[in-house]
Amino acid sequence: AVRLRVREALGAREPADAVRVQGWVRSVRSQKEVLFLHINDGSSLESLQVVADPSLEKRDLTFGSAVEVQGKLVKSPHRMQNMELQAETIRVVGPCDIWSFPLKMKERHPLEYVRQFPHLRCRNNTLGALLRIRSEATAGIHSFFQDNGYVHIHTPIITSNDCEGAGELFQIGVSSAKESAEKTHFFNVPAFLTVSGQLHLEVMAGAFTHVFTFGPTFRAENSQSRRHLAEFYMVEAELSFTESLQDIMQVMEDLFKTVTSTVLSKCPHDVELFHKYIAPAQKVMRVTGKNCSPVILFSSSCRISYSEAVEILKQAPQTFTFKPEWGCDLQTEHEKYLVKHCGEVPVFVVNYPYDLKPFYMRDNEDGPQHTVAAVDLLVPGVGELCGGSLREERLPFLESRLQRLGLTDAYQWYLDLRKFGSVPHGGFGMGFERYLQYILGVDNIKDVIPFPRFSHSCLL
Ligand code: 4AD
Ligand code: MG
Repeated sequence: AVRLRVREALGAREPADAVRVQGWVRSVRSQKEVLFLHINDGSSLESLQVVADPSLEKRDLTFGSAVEVQGKLVKSPHRMQNMELQAETIRVVGPCDIWSFPLKMKERHPLEYVRQFPHLRCRNNTLGALLRIRSEATAGIHSFFQDNGYVHIHTPIITSNDCEGAGELFQIGVSSAKESAEKTHFFNVPAFLTVSGQLHLEVMAGAFTHVFTFGPTFRAENSQSRRHLAEFYMVEAELSFTESLQDIMQVMEDLFKTVTSTVLSKCPHDVELFHKYIAPAQKVMRVTGKNCSPVILFSSSCRISYSEAVEILKQAPQTFTFKPEWGCDLQTEHEKYLVKHCGEVPVFVVNYPYDLKPFYMRDNEDGPQHTVAAVDLLVPGVGELCGGSLREERLPFLESRLQRLGLTDAYQWYLDLRKFGSVPHGGFGMGFERYLQYILGVDNIKDVIPFPRFSHSCLL
């Protein structure tokens, strides 16, 4: 018998004899004359209907059990379904104790409920859809950059540079007590889990012009937040010979549109599930409405400067917990208001105060209200999705800034890049989980990762 994935069986054009399908039972319905099963193997949201003679029913053929079914693939008489499998044999490969199995047949379990079972929640429709989307989006991100002439770089995960300088680092230690008593640093210098691959990408942009990385990133941040993770994935790009923030914003936009179109065309049903059942009505992404596309979404995006943003906030008819003031960070409540003010569309905010931003950002040299060429992309429901900037490529500017920060020694190598063929350049990072939250309308960032960390039931 030919082995078929459920997705292939559902999409088959022609009936076929001697077909074998393996998967997990999503429903069992036993009638007097006929037994109906639905089998899912993760290849699609839709399950394959199996029609069998009641004599094939066994005690351990239950919801959740793993089965192998052989039979004939035939046209289904049902309007909603193309093909079904007429079973000749059904073998239970692995039974499932339905009384203790936390998922129940035909129930739409809330995300908060399945989050308690990180080892089992991928067998649920919602997480199944999410993880297929996540996989397609990952491939889409790689294709976007590869198709546009970027070289992919594996930037280090363990590093001694603190790119963002925000102090949210996880330090690497050695777990054996004896070792750590004698030797505090495994690598002779303090080492951390990376907070960004940017500085390494800047090195590579000095040889390949356009580079990107897409990997795990770590920040010791508040774990209760709906939009922060300690371990998340960041997509980062760095472009040499780039003199304008416009170019950086254009890449952010193109990346967003291309990847979102890919996801919509590769897994329309999976995305639909989120928009139907998960996204709160007011947050449903505009990208998938009947007459809306990701292109439309961005054609209405809004661009303002940080100074304009502060003015908008100061004139807002509402009071904020944090009073908006030039020179202060934009808080979540401010980001929300700005997005609303612009009509619930993505908002680019550019040119932030010099003192708010990391040492590598390019000085705009614009007088008393001193700014750097930074850009943040804020989106409805999520807040900051991307952060980027032009980098300070001028040696004297960088030298004096590092000197003031007392970082000259640590960043000699970085200064070298400004001595040997320095070019104007810039780049950005996009939080992958926040991207998924945004396009799917998911409220809590823990619901867009494969394994929610440290849930009560197990330490996966
Ligand atoms: O704005 P950030 O801190 O930018 C950088 O790290 C730059 N060095 C990137 C670059 O220019 N190459 O982080 C980029 C994005 C944020 O906009 C946000 O979407 C996401 O990463 N992010 C997080 N996502 C989930 N959990 C966290 N704790 C995050 N911190 C940042
Ligand atoms: Mg940022």
